[in-house]
Amino acid sequence: RDHNVQSSLLHHLHQFLPCSSSSSIPGPPGHFLIGNMKELTHDHLPIHLTNLAKRYGSVYRLRCGNTTMVVLNSSDVIKEALVKKWSDFAGRPVSYTGNIVSGGGFSVSLGDYSEEWKAHRRLVHGALQRCCQQSLHQVIERQALHLRKVLMDYQGRAVDLSEDFTVAASNVITTLTFGNEYDKSSPELQQLHNCLNQIVALWGSSWISALDSFPLLRKLPNPVFSRLLQEVVKRDEIIKQHLNNYKSQAKQSEVDITGSLLQSLDKPPKKENGVLLTDTHVHMATVDLLIGGTETTAAWLNWTVAFLLHRPEVQTRVYEELCTVLQGQYPKYSDRHRLPVLCSLVSEVLRLRPVAPLAVPHRAIRDSSIAGYFIPKNTVIIPNLYGAHHDPAVWADPYSFRPERFLEGGGGSTRGLIPFGGGARLCLGESVAKMELFLFTGYLLKDFQFVPPGSEASLPDLRGVASVVLKVKSYTVVARPRATTNP
Ligand code: HEM
Repeated sequence: RDHNVQSSLLHHLHQFLPCSSSSSIPGPPGHFLIGNMKELTHDHLPIHLTNLAKRYGSVYRLRCGNTTMVVLNSSDVIKEALVKKWSDFAGRPVSYTGNIVSGGGFSVSLGDYSEEWKAHRRLVHGALQRCCQQSLHQVIERQALHLRKVLMDYQGRAVDLSEDFTVAASNVITTLTFGNEYDKSSPELQQLHNCLNQIVALWGSSWISALDSFPLLRKLPNPVFSRLLQEVVKRDEIIKQHLNNYKSQAKQSEVDITGSLLQSLDKPPKKENGVLLTDTHVHMATVDLLIGGTETTAAWLNWTVAFLLHRPEVQTRVYEELCTVLQGQYPKYSDRHRLPVLCSLVSEVLRLRPVAPLAVPHRAIRDSSIAGYFIPKNTVIIPNLYGAHHDPAVWADPYSFRPERFLEGGGGSTRGLIPFGGGARLCLGESVAKMELFLFTGYLLKDFQFVPPGSEASLPDLRGVASVVLKVKSYTVVARPRATTNP
């Protein structure tokens, strides 16, 4: 109630407060019918939004249909909204297509802020933490060794590693979630992953987002939307089947996330908020973890190899550090403080290519302000993490790949890095991802030297393809086993 009173006071008084009104937030002029739709359908939206910040500043607005969006382009303004004023900006925009992919708003990632959402996120967070403490390191090590074997089997041939990275990342998250992994002999889980990838790709397309801003378009035939609906039905059937199989097992355990979630459901809901979580929450949490935990990590690994092909001397430095510090052993996560060069590589790839470049849109759940601008309730907030990571006021030579900026005397600080967002909506898998990036990279660079398959022309294109996830265009690479590696 206090907050409601505050919020309505703010609404009435904002004209007397030292805030500019939302209409004075700068932004490009828009078409009277479609607003700034043109800006939002750019082929590389993060780069385009970052370029607009050069003209309109670190906070600007865009309009689409009757939705006003405010784009935040520096780590200071993003942290002001997501961390300092988290309780004002923890909402998610409720949209027609978002409701479809989130099973009616039941997912953690797309669910709007409410008591039910808080209880759901807490439940999933608790289950993930328990399971990670017990087995995450081991699970990643196992997949890193499996990946090593796959690369050895290529015997120095030029290959596209993106599928192998997806399998590795996906196996980590499916092992944590279900207690078993998928490989080429497990068509069901493979089908589930294809389906989830399709959903992310289709949902990111402008054919779909236009339906949220322009309801009239929903009346027209839209083959992309029909595909999306089919994939959602397929996804739900597979997960439902999987959960039913899981429940019918004689022995369920708390070792994997599904078991842990289901056991928590059996306990009575807490009295103070009276929220009742159901199988639907477990179902959608599974979707959240599989989607959040696969393409992001896989895309990051693919970017890392791509950058290393452009700067082979960085690869040599990481390799030499691994040899000197670990003397032939594989790294443990606890070694990270002794491996600054490897850590600087992880940070620099996260900086230059935050794989969720525009995070997930937030919604103001009450009137508030950012950087002195009045932000009315329901404004959609786009945290442009890509823009923040290329802000020349924070990063010297922001477009160059220079991991050494994070080493002592290099002038860079991880304080400006926000690849996982922040506040109430901080990436739920941040600790899983950080351990994966460190261990996978350490294992790979200890055993292999990555070289381009031919001349300079064969080096990967580093611009990337941006959708919900920012990916590198496909390229091939030779993984040459290091002399010390036993085949
Ligand atoms: C949300 C980044 C890996 C699960 C997010 C967000 C970002 C992000 C930027 C949005 C935060 C916001 O809305 O402000 C990344 C990056 C990853 C990664 C860069 C790897 C390099 C993972 C993994 C998992 C995961 C491994 C699962 C184990 C989630 C979930 C959300 C989320 C469930 C929604 C959180 C919420 O809305 O409350 N992630 N993520 N992510 N991520 Fe990640």
